[in-house]
Amino acid sequence: MIYLDNAATTQVLPSILETLKDIYTEYYANPNSIHREGQKAKNLIEKSRFSIAQILKCKADEIIFTSCATESNNLAIFGLAESYPEKNHIITTPIEHKSILAPLKHLSSKGYKVDFVKVDNNGIVDLDHLKSLINSKTLLVCIIHGNNETGVLQDINQIGKLCKEKEVILFTDAVQSFCKEDINLDFVDMFSVSGHKINAPKFIGMLYKKEDVKLKPIIMGGGQERGLRSGTQSPQLINSLYLAVEYWHNNKETLITHLKVLREHFEKRLKEKLPEIKILSENVKRLPNITNVIFPKVDSQTLVMALDTEGVAVSSGSACSSGTPTPSHVITAYGYSEKEALHSVRFSFGIFNTLDEVEVATEKIVNTYKDLRSFF
Ligand SMILES: Cc1ncc(COP(=O)(O)O)c(C=O)c1O
Repeated sequence: MIYLDNAATTQVLPSILETLKDIYTEYYANPNSIHREGQKAKNLIEKSRFSIAQILKCKADEIIFTSCATESNNLAIFGLAESYPEKNHIITTPIEHKSILAPLKHLSSKGYKVDFVKVDNNGIVDLDHLKSLINSKTLLVCIIHGNNETGVLQDINQIGKLCKEKEVILFTDAVQSFCKEDINLDFVDMFSVSGHKINAPKFIGMLYKKEDVKLKPIIMGGGQERGLRSGTQSPQLINSLYLAVEYWHNNKETLITHLKVLREHFEKRLKEKLPEIKILSENVKRLPNITNVIFPKVDSQTLVMALDTEGVAVSSGSACSSGTPTPSHVITAYGYSEKEALHSVRFSFGIFNTLDEVEVATEKIVNTYKDLRSFF
């Protein structure tokens, strides 16, 4: 199987897998127990937190470990809403992940005013529109950094400067961009991270929160994570997240170059062989590993299933919503018709993919598409 669905999830680094057995054996105690074994497990967590903070150039206390980015996003949104009851206005975009849109929909049903800032047909946020929406009741600007369906990057520093000027909190879902793009903490107040998108195991996430931003917990209990996320932490998963962050940090240039080479080669070959396809937002700043392609006349679900039988794993729309044949809310927000959106397929490359794999996959994609197209 050639796995080109790395925006959905990534393979765990072999170096992390190697450490896990020992860490599960050695650090099995509850990190909240006061005996030595417990403290040993706690130290591993705090060492991991401190090391991630050093890489991010922030304070260790500004890092909250969660179970996943969906939880981080929920914590950021509901935790802020609880902390600043005097403000009831939130600005977001129509191109967010569902783990942002669903909590905001819930807040809106409770009386919050949620405004959606316009994006252009490349999916870039309209800064003037954003500026015009901010008012004295605005609690939060919540804008995704790198889009999970198209890879399009927002100028998050520019957005952050504007939010700073207007004294509103900026929270960005950095799940896809984390470790691939720099985030300037002078301008961003909070961001969410998911371990499994950067070659760590699943069920570990993180929320960065600037020290002076108030936040209330959504999960209450034993008061772990400085009261912001109760529940026994996993020293194993937290340490794995740190190892993944460190790996990406130390090898960033090589990894990014590799991903860019794969994607550029893929797009070039596909365009040569299928001039009728359209690559979304091809000429704007995108993440190095994601490309989204519209294949005229062929329904994307059919193409994804046919490619699966050919041994190529890809996604149509967001992986979290695959199975539902509804057009992607992201692609339609860019101004594409529902029909076009139903013909779009996401290819996302990972650090373990090779150029040979991309070459073979391209050939299979071209042939499968041509076969299917001849039916319609
Ligand atoms: C942009 C974005 N935000 C949030 C999430 C949710 O992450 P998790 O699977 O860790 O809950 C995803 C996962 O696909 C994502 O791509």
